[in-house]
Amino acid sequence: MSQKPPGEVLFTADQIRERVRGLAEEIDARLPPGPIHAVVILKGAAFFAVDLLRALNREASLGFVFAESYGAGTAPGGPPEMRLEGLGEVAGRSVLLIEDILDTGGTLALLSGHIGALGPARLRTCVLLDKPASRQFDVRPDHTGFEIEDRFVVGYGLDAGERFRMLPEIRVYGEK
Ligand code: IMP
Ligand code: MG
Repeated sequence: MSQKPPGEVLFTADQIRERVRGLAEEIDARLPPGPIHAVVILKGAAFFAVDLLRALNREASLGFVFAESYGAGTAPGGPPEMRLEGLGEVAGRSVLLIEDILDTGGTLALLSGHIGALGPARLRTCVLLDKPASRQFDVRPDHTGFEIEDRFVVGYGLDAGERFRMLPEIRVYGEK
């Protein structure tokens, strides 16, 4: 993998904080009152999910699933690898599936299908970033932070071969 540094800032930490707060308000307004079960798609969405859940005005239990499609590169290498053992109890509950970025849509389509089949009372999806131009699966998130062009981005949890997750802002890493 190339060692080039990340490029231009797409969203500053302040812009992200502001939008995450807005998303939390949107989710609170659109979900019926009561606790939710949040399912975080690891690893990238961990950073976003923590901030989002702290901004929500309701109780949330937490489940984790692991999905990886990019490996060390900046282009998907096939169907995502999934591990679901940390999902938690979803049957009969309000489930919020939290993803960092929607690209082909493969990860969200697969996980929504899987969780939907387990009988949640309702299933909502929330993504921080969406690249609609690269969609290959018919998925529409219920809540979207920002739509972006089809460029590879890093920071705020998003990595390039495990690097740059810790950046507080989101930066362009390269054209795909
Ligand atoms: P999808 O299954 O093609 O929608 O891909 C979604 C997954 O690919 C995300 O969960 C990310 O882990 C990864 N991904 C997609 N685009 C980017 C990017 O621009 N930067 C970092 N990771 C990305
Ligand atoms: Mg991911």
